[in-house]
Amino acid sequence: MGSKNTSKREVQGNITHPKKWSILQIFSFSSVFLISVLFASNYNTSDTLIRRFSDNVFTYTWSRMSPFSDKSLEKHKSELFKQVSGNVLEIGPGLGTTLKYLSIDNIDKLVQVEPNQAFYPKLRQEALRLGYQVKYITNESPNIPIPPAAESEASQQDGNAKEMSAKISKNMLIYNGTLEDAEGNPTPSLVANGPYDSIISSLVLCSVDNVETTVNSIAFLLKPGGKFYFLEHVTADKPITPFEHLIYYTQRLITPIWGLVSGNCHLNRDSGTIISSSQYFTNVKVSPISTNKSSFFESLAPFIYGTAERV
Ligand SMILES: C[S@@+](CC[C@H](N)C(=O)[O-])C[C@H]1O[C@@H](n2cnc3c(N)ncnc32)[C@H](O)[C@@H]1O
Repeated sequence: MGSKNTSKREVQGNITHPKKWSILQIFSFSSVFLISVLFASNYNTSDTLIRRFSDNVFTYTWSRMSPFSDKSLEKHKSELFKQVSGNVLEIGPGLGTTLKYLSIDNIDKLVQVEPNQAFYPKLRQEALRLGYQVKYITNESPNIPIPPAAESEASQQDGNAKEMSAKISKNMLIYNGTLEDAEGNPTPSLVANGPYDSIISSLVLCSVDNVETTVNSIAFLLKPGGKFYFLEHVTADKPITPFEHLIYYTQRLITPIWGLVSGNCHLNRDSGTIISSSQYFTNVKVSPISTNKSSFFESLAPFIYGTAERV
């Protein structure tokens, strides 16, 4: 028997004692846990090293995941987004997967607000393919394409630009930033291009810093009677069965770490309720997108889609 510490378990007679954790193991585990929590809680303080790391990881993973996600939601996206019209703002277009669901003939101008520049080449390519003229705006020059020289140079580099120029009819303006500034106010260049008849959000409310602030900004930017079109993944309902408890608490447990590799994505947001209970919206329609309720992974991200009309 002796006092030798075996690697798996210590055996005394017939009694089996669980292995004792060494100080080193406890220290390593606690350090990894603490660093993860620190990183996760630090994510929102904009330009930190961890946020840049996280955005790079997300750019890579989303570029690969997006086609599958888009395919599985295409029926609901086309039903929802074909109604979009007028002066339009899309929040977080990413790679531009929503563009093909819009009817360009019904659009006067399309403004896109996207903080992640790594998505721009694909976003721009898709916009040109569909017949938009792409321009970049800033808060200093919200309406004038900048810099014009760089823009025309970039156009020449697009192999199909000439072919497209015949079709080009609508402006698509891209603003590099977030919907709100650091104080939570709508970004000036988006205000300058508004107010909007339609605002679109596809899988974005899960990633913004604060859903209530974003919903308020959307309301601020819409015309009275204008519409907010959204398709989002949300929290599981309040749990009743053991399986529902498992899903509900897994969403909450893994969100801090999940957010680090998925561009600040939260699995536990109640975006549908936040939109429905906003004083700025009426005629709110929220429908669940049916998923396989016995699938663990599908249940972790239940989808909703709908519209809300600005009061
Ligand atoms: C999961 S991706 C969805 C991309 C696209 N809408 C789609 O359906 O494929 C989330 C996008 O929201 C953008 N985003 C996150 N926070 C944002 C904010 N506050 N304002 C604007 N865009 C934001 C991200 O950069 C990213 O492109």
